[in-house]
Amino acid sequence: MKRFNNGFFQLVFFLISLPLLGSGLCMDPFSYDQSLQSECLMEPPQTTGNTGGQGFKEFKINESGGIRNVVERVDLQEGNTYSVSAWVKLRNESQRKVGMTFSGKNGINVFGGEVMAKRGCWSLLKGGITADFSGSIDIFFKSDGLAASEISVQNVRMQRFNKTQWRLQQDQIIEKIRKNTVRFQMSFQNKSALKGSVISIEQIKPSFLLGCAMNYQILESDSYKEWFVSRFRLTSFTNEMKWYATEAVRGQENYKLADSMMQLAEENGILVKGHTVLWDDKYWQPNWVKTITDPQDLKNVTLNRINSVMKRYKGRLVGWDVMNENVHFNYFENMLGGNASAIVYSLASKLDPDIPLFLNEFNTVEYAKDRVVSPVNVVKKMQEIVSFPGNSNMKGGIGAQGHFAPIQPNLAYMRSALDTLGSLGFPVWLTEVDMDKFPDQVKYMEDILREAYSHPAVKAIILYGGPEVSGFNKLTLADKDFNNTQAGDLIDKLLQEWKQEPVEIPIQHHEHNDEEEGRIIGFSPEISLLHGHYRVTVTNPTMKNLSTSFSLEVTKETGHLQEVQLVIDA
Ligand SMILES: *[C@@H]1O[C@H](CO)[C@@H](O)[C@H](O)[C@H]1NC(C)=O
Ligand SMILES: *[C@@H]1O[C@H](CO)[C@@H](O)[C@H](O)[C@H]1NC(C)=O
Ligand SMILES: *[C@@H]1O[C@H](CO)[C@@H](O)[C@H](O)[C@H]1NC(C)=O
Ligand SMILES: *[C@@H]1O[C@H](CO)[C@@H](O)[C@H](O)[C@H]1NC(C)=O
Ligand SMILES: *[C@@H]1O[C@H](CO)[C@@H](O)[C@H](O)[C@H]1NC(C)=O
Ligand SMILES: *[C@@H]1O[C@H](CO)[C@@H](O)[C@H](O)[C@H]1NC(C)=O
Ligand SMILES: *[C@@H]1O[C@H](CO)[C@@H](O)[C@H](O)[C@H]1NC(C)=O
Ligand SMILES: *[C@@H]1O[C@H](CO)[C@@H](O)[C@H](O)[C@H]1NC(C)=O
Repeated sequence: MKRFNNGFFQLVFFLISLPLLGSGLCMDPFSYDQSLQSECLMEPPQTTGNTGGQGFKEFKINESGGIRNVVERVDLQEGNTYSVSAWVKLRNESQRKVGMTFSGKNGINVFGGEVMAKRGCWSLLKGGITADFSGSIDIFFKSDGLAASEISVQNVRMQRFNKTQWRLQQDQIIEKIRKNTVRFQMSFQNKSALKGSVISIEQIKPSFLLGCAMNYQILESDSYKEWFVSRFRLTSFTNEMKWYATEAVRGQENYKLADSMMQLAEENGILVKGHTVLWDDKYWQPNWVKTITDPQDLKNVTLNRINSVMKRYKGRLVGWDVMNENVHFNYFENMLGGNASAIVYSLASKLDPDIPLFLNEFNTVEYAKDRVVSPVNVVKKMQEIVSFPGNSNMKGGIGAQGHFAPIQPNLAYMRSALDTLGSLGFPVWLTEVDMDKFPDQVKYMEDILREAYSHPAVKAIILYGGPEVSGFNKLTLADKDFNNTQAGDLIDKLLQEWKQEPVEIPIQHHEHNDEEEGRIIGFSPEISLLHGHYRVTVTNPTMKNLSTSFSLEVTKETGHLQEVQLVIDA
């Protein structure tokens, strides 16, 4: 318990957490109250109820628990999202990925989600489809190279959501995961001090940040700089920290651009995620590195690179991409051995142990057909890194780039992908979100950003966009005169919505209160506040000297109801 004494005020923070109601909720596959840890259960739990969608269906699976090829034929309506969940178990092999696929006429074949299934216990497979057509489809459960008879499936459930219902569900989750109910309890010496006292609350720093990438053009355009600093509190540089940028010629390091951008960010209170210590794609090595054939030589220059860039920016970053795209690519593994990534993360965590060290991949949440970087594979890679000797205490992070194609995003798949990525307990960031320009770009960008914001594992989003002058030509947020594009309007709207507006709340005398030690107790109404840091000021217009401020953090750590007690010597 913290106590503040500030002249008139003694503040006692008293924090109450309410346990979530009903442990039965834990088994609801559509509910996000449960921890994201994916358990494997001896019995597939009986699930009940409907969580705000329509057309709730439960499919009967063949009594033997064996699954036929097609689970069910269902009719989809364009624009609706269908959440599907099922409990799956392997009959023979100890562990293998099992996925759900939706197949229809005209070659429609949508991959809807997957889970690492096991033998001997049931794993929850979640996913679904956002239909971009109307018509009937068949649901399949499959594991590459396994006969259907080797997979058991039970309790298959499907729920249909129209756009309004999906949005409503997102908003309900946001209420739970991004906000707390706060109530102030104030104890006064004198009733007349209570009367008319008002609490003003102003958010200093939101805990969820919607950031934006920046590139060196910001150093050359004051308008770009102004545009940026008036909006964003989080960034990552596109190329300027990369090895090919800082050491284009062997032995000649040049951090000029990166340093200047770092300084610009720091001067304006903008947090920076480092991108990237190394990149596992051979194509993107500095040209001179590509010509190295002696592994010992490569090891030497690689160690030099890691030390150079990480020591330079130590203490100034909020995270590092360490071995970019190391699920897609394996240049360093090929050259230096199968544990190259794990060793690099190990070195990185010794150099900068306090910030999350990210695995950063593309296509994991945005393109289900790229099975190489499926969420299960990304998690597997991170587990491999963390289980390497010495890495068990490493602070990890999962970066999902989010370069979306110009088509309707599959929000049910995206949600299931985030579930899987979140299962390690590391923060998940969307790190490079964009989408090619096309008529529905803004609408679909909004769907994607809201889906990420309403997922408990997602701790930050970085857009891959900027004003026209920056050259980001997919997600262009302002034109050459720095007037917002429609995409820019969307981002400004979300920035506004995801930070708390200042509020003023009155203190009310509470009738039934004990006047312990002759003191008068007053309460504020309960208010719902977004997580973040606040400046709270208590004033009373009739008592000019009754005025003081303190800072308050509203955080999920304190449970859903946060009660703040203030003792006022007036
Ligand atoms: C259950 O599965 C078995 C084996 O796959 C099959 O022979 C049988 O017809 C199925 N029963 C039903 C009711 O679908
Ligand atoms: C079970 O899996 C093993 C390999 O893990 C394979 O050799 C064996 O044939 C499988 N048995 C059946 C009944 O499919
Ligand atoms: C979605 O469903 C709700 C509840 O059934 C209904 O009131 C609403 O009109 C529907 N919205 C759309 C866009 O279809
Ligand atoms: C309470 O405040 C009023 C007005 O300032 C004053 O007249 C009164 O004496 C105070 N009472 C006590 C107990 O301090
Ligand atoms: C690598 O570095 C070590 C120690 O700094 C040095 O002895 C060795 O010659 C270097 N190897 C190559 C191939 O440059
Ligand atoms: C990777 O590290 C593990 C754990 O130290 C070790 O067992 C394994 O042999 C290593 N693999 C390679 C390819 O070096
Ligand atoms: C764009 O910005 C310029 C300069 O700020 C302004 O004069 C102009 O009216 C704006 N155009 C539109 C279409 O808003
Ligand atoms: C507060 O101001 C009032 C007059 O406005 C004065 O009578 C009182 O002594 C002041 N209280 C303190 C603690 O300074």
